[in-house]
Amino acid sequence: MSRFAPRALTVTSALLVLSACAGGVEGSPGGSGLRDPYFPRSGNGGYDVTHYALDLAYTPDDRRLAGTAEITARATQDLSAFDLDLKGMDVERVEVEGERARWSRNGQELVVRPHGDLTENETFRITVRYSGTPQTITDPDGSQEGWLPTADGVLALGEPTGSMAWFPGNHHPSDKASYDLAITVPEKLQAVSNGELTHRSTREGRTTFRWRTAEPMAGYVAMLAIGDYDIRRSTVATEADGELPVHTAVVRSQSDSARKVLDRLPEIMEWAEYNFGPYPFSSTGAVIAPRNAAAYALETQNRPVFPGAPDTKLFVHELAHQWFGNSVTPKSWRDMWLNEGFATYAEWLWREDDGGDSAQETFDALYDHGEDEYEDLWSFPPAEPTSAAHISDAPVYQRGAMVIHKIRQTVGDDAFYDIVQGWAAAHRHGNADTADFTAYVEKSAPDEDFDPIWQEWLYGDGKPARP
Ligand code: TRP
Ligand code: ZN
Repeated sequence: MSRFAPRALTVTSALLVLSACAGGVEGSPGGSGLRDPYFPRSGNGGYDVTHYALDLAYTPDDRRLAGTAEITARATQDLSAFDLDLKGMDVERVEVEGERARWSRNGQELVVRPHGDLTENETFRITVRYSGTPQTITDPDGSQEGWLPTADGVLALGEPTGSMAWFPGNHHPSDKASYDLAITVPEKLQAVSNGELTHRSTREGRTTFRWRTAEPMAGYVAMLAIGDYDIRRSTVATEADGELPVHTAVVRSQSDSARKVLDRLPEIMEWAEYNFGPYPFSSTGAVIAPRNAAAYALETQNRPVFPGAPDTKLFVHELAHQWFGNSVTPKSWRDMWLNEGFATYAEWLWREDDGGDSAQETFDALYDHGEDEYEDLWSFPPAEPTSAAHISDAPVYQRGAMVIHKIRQTVGDDAFYDIVQGWAAAHRHGNADTADFTAYVEKSAPDEDFDPIWQEWLYGDGKPARP
């Protein structure tokens, strides 16, 4: 009999452990931010979003947005509570796994306490019903983003923090997800977003557009444009996938001026694929919004937004971001130069290939007289912007492009294009930071010494010594 006693004890203690779990050896809150060095409250800890299904309706007359966000996420720890980012709007109801959850608001944090704990690795569904007039957000650098009303509709843009104005989510570039967006607007208007238009139907004076983004997308490049747009579909030949759908949306007031650059889209796509490798997404295009809708263009996924018709150079810049920024996405806002340095360098390459100045000439002119055009050009190193107010300044764009050019000077053209394409391929649909990049470059050209470039051009204060 006594022989069995230890075994019985073991079973009992196992049961105790089990019941302790079921009764809630508690999970902990996920955390209100991801400790981004520039935007510490952006994003949230403890889970990873895999899919957003947004079902929204907008009436421009009273500027009311109402809808439901259904978010599919995976817990990365045992969770007793978690946050979503949402700025403004009225939350009406929150459910987790179909059960009502308690919630509270704290600034841009929507704090959710699910009915029961969530277990690490569990996939769960969050439903948020909300409505209200979305806010226009002013960036640390003074520019406007988020919800930007136009005469008859709206333009929603999200870099770096604007997406929280119109849908709840894990709004940090490190958490990419697929999206389904259904948007219902008055019948006389059109609604454009990322991905592909899968459905359009009109009922009782209102039209619903369904847009699907299958490839991972960072929230800051999610976009919604509502207005009197001319939406056209065509296709373009690509290297990898054969015919790629093109959706262009041109606001009626811009149709004449937009035609010129949009006619060149196939040619620019072909040039970009030749230089950067296969286009990473399942559709392309552009949104030509009203001139005063925003003060800047943005590389919104699949189809960049331009306030009025862009010149070719700007079009090339935003298209290059589809590889550098949207497919290979920064791990944090500190890595912004990986976006803007590459996109700016793409402009230099285009000019070089289009019979204009060579990239070397552009580099030299910047080195010699850059201060005339960009007085802050040498004010901080590209990899270390002074603060959140400076992530879109000249050191990130122009000096960032100079870093890329220094690499090209060092390795020569053949190896350089291998690095550019290899980098885009290695982190396709992922996230990467500056250390990943320097390590990748070093691995690609093991005989070269890149330290002087990193030390002087990427991390060094002040103007580097004459090259
Ligand atoms: N990324 C945009 C571009 O280069 C510019 C931009 C718009 C931006 N909004 C921003 C950059 C906010 C940094 C922060 O085309
Ligand atoms: Zn850019």
